Amino acid sequence: GHGHGRGARGLRFDAVEPNTADAVTVADGYDQNVVIAWGDPVLRGAPAFDPARQTAAAQAGQFGYNNDFLALLPLRWERDKQLLVANHEYTSEEVMFPGYDPENVTREQVEIAWAAHGMSVVAVEEEGRWGRRGGSLRAVPRHPLNRRITATTEFELTGPAAGSDLLKTSADPTGRRVLGTLNNCAGGTTPWGTVLSGEENFNQYFANAGAVTDPVAKQRLARYGMSGGATQRKWERFDDRFDVVKEPQEPNRFGWVVEVDPYDPDSTPVKHTALGRFKHEGASIRLTRDGRAVAYSGDDERFDYLYKFVSAKRMVRGNSRWARAHNMTLLDEGTLYVARLTGDSPAGEIDGSGTLPEDGEFDGGGEWIKLASGDRSYVDGMTAEEVYVFTRLAADKAGATKMDRPEDVEPSPNSGKLYVALTNNSRRGVDDNAAADEANPRNANKHGHVLELTERHNDPASTRFGWRLFLVCGDPADPSTYFAGFPKEEVSPISCPDNVAFDPYGNLWISTDGNALGANDGLFGVATTGRYEGQVKQFLTVPVGAETCGPIVDEDRVLVAVQHPGEVDGASYENPGSVWPDGPGRPNRPAVVNVWRSGGGRIGA
Ligand code: FEO
Ligand code: CA
Ligand code: CA
Ligand code: CA
Repeated sequence: GHGHGRGARGLRFDAVEPNTADAVTVADGYDQNVVIAWGDPVLRGAPAFDPARQTAAAQAGQFGYNNDFLALLPLRWERDKQLLVANHEYTSEEVMFPGYDPENVTREQVEIAWAAHGMSVVAVEEEGRWGRRGGSLRAVPRHPLNRRITATTEFELTGPAAGSDLLKTSADPTGRRVLGTLNNCAGGTTPWGTVLSGEENFNQYFANAGAVTDPVAKQRLARYGMSGGATQRKWERFDDRFDVVKEPQEPNRFGWVVEVDPYDPDSTPVKHTALGRFKHEGASIRLTRDGRAVAYSGDDERFDYLYKFVSAKRMVRGNSRWARAHNMTLLDEGTLYVARLTGDSPAGEIDGSGTLPEDGEFDGGGEWIKLASGDRSYVDGMTAEEVYVFTRLAADKAGATKMDRPEDVEPSPNSGKLYVALTNNSRRGVDDNAAADEANPRNANKHGHVLELTERHNDPASTRFGWRLFLVCGDPADPSTYFAGFPKEEVSPISCPDNVAFDPYGNLWISTDGNALGANDGLFGVATTGRYEGQVKQFLTVPVGAETCGPIVDEDRVLVAVQHPGEVDGASYENPGSVWPDGPGRPNRPAVVNVWRSGGGRIGA
């Protein structure tokens, strides 16, 4: 059984059993510590977390809420330290603030929430003795590179849609300066040493789309999920830019991939319009052989699409100021594509149950459909600026394949194959919605699947690709599941894949969000080639109500972001859904957890 430590190199640990414990449970023989949690000081002058005395000024210097994507970057001149970058996706006011009244939100609460969104850059230091592998990790407050980026930090819009009338507001007649980033979910670390972050469900911050009467504007808003009145957080009461009747273009300034240079705390972060505007889960980069950057990104919505961008310019190696400045423009010039996938089995063999077709695999081919390149549009009836700003509408016209919520994507550093988490789609084949196809083979898909995409000639700039479903998730006892053909009695149950990452051996690691099997979410490793290909093994589980995010799997440590612990129906500050991490009587705090091998050593070796 999978309880034994055998498995691929890097995955030799005893799998953690599914559970509902209100704790982070790690594989036997591993230790853990909390590196940093919501409210911990990041910047000089920030106070320690005090839930009874929260202020916007304090929060602006403290670690934000709901950590998601994580990146760990080297600090070459301080060898015991690294730079941790974290996304702060959203705020959960009802569990953050004592006595929170959603009808009577205060300016201070709103400004705290603005400051709790965005990103953090914070140095981290190994506490173990010099030279020891693994060990606990602590945040270094007040390090000179530490930085908070919030919902009010100035960003520059770059690329072909920057300066467009579609991006101008009364506060920014240039269409090039935006305050803040919102709903930063997953992301990526670039080969040139910067961090990308996806603005995902930005629609939830914009009020009163229902009062817009112009039919074109209304349709554009609706395609991005904006059609209602007041928002849940009521930010529109405190800043007109969150009211689309007053500032109709402000929502167009969110839904981008942002890039941050974590080594320069004074740099202005950018939003890259060339990568299109949608609910970017994140973005991950692969280089062509001649050094062009290819950015892959999923649009996390039921029946939405998978995209890629191929840069025109090549990356310059090295760390000079000139090279870094050049590389930060790579994502501004190039071509944006969306994916169309075709199955190779007769449509009649795909019945929505997940039963494998006669050829034994859900697989097929596909093409990348060109949407726009620089100022040129390839979509009938849309200008290039419209393609970039209303990318979903462009991809609808182009006939892209409707997927089961494309979440995080990651190319294998060994094979170059791209792994795409498709988290679930309860609406597939339900009512008038698109029915199952070979790439999304289960109707009312509760547990999701993982797609493997192989570019033609292994060239990420190719316009053709092959694909197969690597995993069809769920309880292995469920006949609709598939684990690359590995014997099902030797795999861990897995549901709702969200973030994906690779370890140094080339194993895929998957974190989950919304486990529909009745147990808590967790982190899983799986080999993508060789004898153990498809053997999914659970490495850790997270507390009640939490989602597992941002996995980083290095040779000697694993980092996860524990997002929204205690997020269960009816939870409030006074009645939290979990006691993690600080115990009873304290609010839940999203936090980064570090896991290492007891006594030190390689993970899963
Ligand atoms: Fe924020 Fe798609 O997960
Ligand atoms: Ca097939
Ligand atoms: Ca996610
Ligand atoms: Ca998710």
